[in-house]
Amino acid sequence: MSAKPPKSIEEARAKCAKLRAEINRHNRLYYVEATQEISDQAFDGLLKELEAIEAQYPELITPDSPTQRVGGQPIEGFETVEHEVPMLSIDNTYNPEELRAFDERVRRGLAGDAPTYVTELKVDGVAISVQYINGVFTRAATRGDGERGDNVTANVRTIRAVPLRLNGDPPSALEVRGEVFMHRKELDRINALREEAGEAPLANPRNTTAGTLKMLDSRVVASRKLDIVFYDIAKRDSETFASHWKTLELLRSFDFPTSKYSEHCDDIDAVLRVVEAWEDKRHTLDFEIDGLVIKVDSAAHRKRLGTTSKSPRWVIAYKYPAQVAQTKVINIAIQVGKSGALTPVAEMEPVLLAGTTVKRASLHNFEEVERKDVRVGDTVEIQKAGEIIPQVLRVIEKLRPKNTEPFPVPKKCPECGGEVHKDAEGVYWRCLNLACPAQVKERLRHFASRGSMDIEGMGPAVIEQLVAEGLVHGPADIYSLTDEQIVNLERMGKKSAANLIAGIEASKKRPLSRMLGGLGIRHVGGHIAEVLASHFGSIDKLMNASVEELNDIHEIGGVVAASVHDFFETEENRALIAQLMERGLTMKEAAPARGDGPQPFAGKTFVVTGTLQKYSRDGIHDRIKNLGGKAASSISANTDYLVAGEKAGSKLNKAKQLGVKVLTEDEFDAMTNAAE
Ligand code: IVH
Repeated sequence: MSAKPPKSIEEARAKCAKLRAEINRHNRLYYVEATQEISDQAFDGLLKELEAIEAQYPELITPDSPTQRVGGQPIEGFETVEHEVPMLSIDNTYNPEELRAFDERVRRGLAGDAPTYVTELKVDGVAISVQYINGVFTRAATRGDGERGDNVTANVRTIRAVPLRLNGDPPSALEVRGEVFMHRKELDRINALREEAGEAPLANPRNTTAGTLKMLDSRVVASRKLDIVFYDIAKRDSETFASHWKTLELLRSFDFPTSKYSEHCDDIDAVLRVVEAWEDKRHTLDFEIDGLVIKVDSAAHRKRLGTTSKSPRWVIAYKYPAQVAQTKVINIAIQVGKSGALTPVAEMEPVLLAGTTVKRASLHNFEEVERKDVRVGDTVEIQKAGEIIPQVLRVIEKLRPKNTEPFPVPKKCPECGGEVHKDAEGVYWRCLNLACPAQVKERLRHFASRGSMDIEGMGPAVIEQLVAEGLVHGPADIYSLTDEQIVNLERMGKKSAANLIAGIEASKKRPLSRMLGGLGIRHVGGHIAEVLASHFGSIDKLMNASVEELNDIHEIGGVVAASVHDFFETEENRALIAQLMERGLTMKEAAPARGDGPQPFAGKTFVVTGTLQKYSRDGIHDRIKNLGGKAASSISANTDYLVAGEKAGSKLNKAKQLGVKVLTEDEFDAMTNAAE
């Protein structure tokens, strides 16, 4: 930011207006047109510049300033607001025949006139109604009972995709409707933080969205990235908008993000083709939908069809069958994590669910077991959350056999017999014995894992043996293993022994952040480890930092600061670091490349799949990030490139389906070389 502070309030006012228009324009490019002209950093730079001027001249702050999305003072409760136009519900259909019956009803209602339709995704979130007065965001309310909802203005203001000032020439009073939702990867991000803090994970994006919108502290809402699509204008004058398709265009022209997946269909056959196409394609989206919404397009037709007391006759939902199955719990096992947390896991009779066989599901913690009252012998309903992870939804009580007992919290660690204790805050029970073999193995597994030291050849089976034979008790022991000890491990061929030896050697050069993340310090995941490593640059400085110094770092809060400080205060941990150093770990952190070198991949998202020849998985991810790109783990319509190595499977197919550009490793290399 090179901007000089304005010298007068007039100059400041002009500068604010210019910056706000510029920020709104970039927001439009991003959310409405799905393109990007400047990097996220440059965008933040504009916001910071505006914030600085507003800090100097607070009288210039307006509610529609883009700086006002950070949330304000907590409120006591939500005021009730009455919807001027009620928020109706819609009827559901569950198969093609019911959808054809809907089309017949519509055509009868139109006395033989042929309707055309618009299909939209039925995003699984929370319906919202938003008012604009003279083009300025003024109020947002939840649906509630359809007549009255909660005033959630402060919370909705924090959603970046909600325009605070409209573009073009909107009517003086405008009310629009849409669906607030959360992307799966945002829920994953929140859950990773919760897990580090010892909190139970949030079950699904829809409930998290609803819970977030009902928070009394809008600053917390601002820290969770909600998104929105708009799909209707509530206060409409049917003369003005001839069709729904035109309404969507008009919404976009005012800067409201609408779904890029809406389609215009000439008849019900075309609608059915869309329904069929999304049956599988919906799994590639980064957000959840529970079906499609099918709407008669013409405003004149809608008027003729009218509304029943519950729902309009011109709209219907098509719901895909839920991905649930029933099975029996044969055992509840208890896993011991790297920090001793005991996780109950339901082991079930294998059952086919959404294309894969499921036989295990985490029950997360004992509060959850108690709440759902899951017992061995129970028949349960399971579902796939986020399409991948199976979840126990509920117990079917009437199928419960006699003489079952509630599943108890164990009195001792099932692995080592050590004492267990419940966290003062949070939901986890932990085994307190640091030498518990299950914990030792988990810590080693974490240390050696791809996201940490990435030690090739050191999988669970090898770790199991190393611990069982007493060769390794902690990370430092890995580096004092002799070649002979490795070669003599059971089922260890010559080639895999050589691989493991090379893998251990190579891991000595991993950056400091990887090692820090690998130590399993409470509250220090991969991201926090990167923040610490790039701030301090060396392990010595980090080890000797005071709590205050740690606390002063951007993104490091009190809990993390205390945890890091405690870790390095502990004698054994200092000894561990000294040993690792002695055994040749370099613990160096390269200067953060982002923003320094050229950023030719800015705004581009890459996914990597298959076996690569020249790069490790982390190596290629680092390279992408260094050049300003994003490295994502799953393919969606937002992916720009898939780098596919050997044996690429489902991701490659998905990329082809979605028309994502596929690169070989060599093509990727050529691109990076050209970029530098
Ligand atoms: S139209 C009168 N369009 O589905 C028609 N609804 O059960 C009003 N939803 O409460 C709804 N995506 O929360 C419409 N493209 C879409 C939608 C959508 C999601 C939700 C919305 C509504 C519920 C209807």
